[in-house]
Amino acid sequence: MRFARCKMLIVLTLFVIAAVVCLTSKGSAKNDDDDLDKRLSQVLRAQGFTGRIESTLERRLGRKIDKRLADLGRNLFHDTIVGLNNDNSCSGCHAATAGFGDTQSIAIGINNNFIVGPDRSGPRNQRRTPMAANTAFFPNLMWNSRFASLSNDPFDNRAGFNFPPPEGMTLSDKAHLLIAQAFIPPTERVEAAGFVFPGDNYAIRREVIRRVDDVPEYRRLFGKIFPEVDAGAPITYDMFAKAIAEFEFTLVFANAPIDGFARGEREAMTDDQKKGALLFFGKANCVACHAVSGQSNEMFSDFKEHVIGVPQIAPIFGNVIFDGPAVNEDFGLEQITGNANDRYMFRTSPIRNVSLQPAFFHNGAFTTLEDAVHFHLNVATRARDYDPARAGVKPDLQGPIGPIEPVLKRLDPLMQTPVILTHEEFRQLIDFLRKGLLDDRAKPERLRKLIPTHVPSGRAIQNFQ
Ligand code: HEC
Ligand code: HEC
Repeated sequence: MRFARCKMLIVLTLFVIAAVVCLTSKGSAKNDDDDLDKRLSQVLRAQGFTGRIESTLERRLGRKIDKRLADLGRNLFHDTIVGLNNDNSCSGCHAATAGFGDTQSIAIGINNNFIVGPDRSGPRNQRRTPMAANTAFFPNLMWNSRFASLSNDPFDNRAGFNFPPPEGMTLSDKAHLLIAQAFIPPTERVEAAGFVFPGDNYAIRREVIRRVDDVPEYRRLFGKIFPEVDAGAPITYDMFAKAIAEFEFTLVFANAPIDGFARGEREAMTDDQKKGALLFFGKANCVACHAVSGQSNEMFSDFKEHVIGVPQIAPIFGNVIFDGPAVNEDFGLEQITGNANDRYMFRTSPIRNVSLQPAFFHNGAFTTLEDAVHFHLNVATRARDYDPARAGVKPDLQGPIGPIEPVLKRLDPLMQTPVILTHEEFRQLIDFLRKGLLDDRAKPERLRKLIPTHVPSGRAIQNFQ
């Protein structure tokens, strides 16, 4: 009897101890979570990151998106009528299946095999096609920022839009930088125009628009939006550019888990992603260049150029003459400024939705996100070890690579000290980049639906893999 009571007491005591241990440990796990949330919220607040950038689009445009105009733009974006070589459209390089970015390490323009995807082949141009998604918020465009809104706001043309010659400042009357940008691609001979048609950029645009204007269905669609076309006036290049830009305005996918978290949805991110974000904004100091404050419009880029030491791969078969004595280099910003101090400088990549890319950096020298980030953490060592075959680039890009020592000589001071992460931290950083920055609406299965089954010109649609 006494023994039984004693046993019961012991059991009871054990139970109480267990309960206390269990409760306090649960409490401390919760405290850890709270602490993680608090720290990340604080960091984001200090950066001025709101997670609400997407909702500012129409206000900054000063109007609603015109859905009919955007849909017309979607057709033109996918129509080879825009390419005087008759075998490429914007979508041949800006593929719906890759966040409207490249399926290749280095873009393939004219004389391609009409495939958009891994098996695309043909002569290479110079660089990888960046994603057109979210470009509505970019204060400057291209790998060397050569198309720029001088106010650093793509929605504000008051200081003018600067382009290299021959356009210069002539596109400054356009309401948004993307409308101005749409004047350029069809004039690029290696991308779309080809070498047969004689004449300058203005002549190429006149010919592209003459072809569009010749198609009754395009006249009908433009006529619904522009009354002057309905009344018999010709379609103008300006209207074409507005349609293309309007479509690009619909490609804003800037509602990733990090945005949800910033708006107060704590469950939007996993603990690993939160820890990865803290590394990005903290110990790894990625935000020093992949900025989110102010004029970066929360796009994870300072929209400035840096030398980060990317290995120089060059195609065996291409139609652009590369830089340097052995024509296997890319001088980056120097091509625009003519200043040798700007050699090898490229714009910090805006890395929202980066996991949709099949290749990384301006020339796609790496083909996995892990390899790209691993490289980025210790450039000097890994640039010298670079092997294009091991990096997984296509055979026509594996060969003789450009010199790396002159690049490393100019390496940005921020890249000179390696960032040391544990395996666990590296995994968390990748998790943040891969999922924390991904807006699910930009995934291929959804964007694929934007590829038209036929276009008003009746021309064939490229074969999307
Ligand atoms: C041959 C492939 C190709 C075609 C066709 C093409 N582009 Fe591009 N696009 C590129 C490449 C490559 C770049 C980056 C070039 C550079 O920086 O030197 C780019 C850059 C851009 C950018 C800037 C993106 C950024 O991050 O700054 C926009 C916007 C764009 N293209 C829109 C278009 C539109 C609209 C069309 C069709 C009218 C088009 N492109 C046709 C390959 C192409
Ligand atoms: C000194 C500025 C700087 C810092 C610091 C920096 N980056 Fe970058 N990052 C760049 C530039 C510039 C590019 C594009 C370079 C190029 O393509 O030639 C880039 C490209 C990338 C890309 C490839 C994106 C694409 O378009 O293919 C990823 C991913 C990336 N950075 C992640 C990170 C991470 C993660 C960190 C922190 C560990 C970091 N970066 C730190 C400047 C920087």
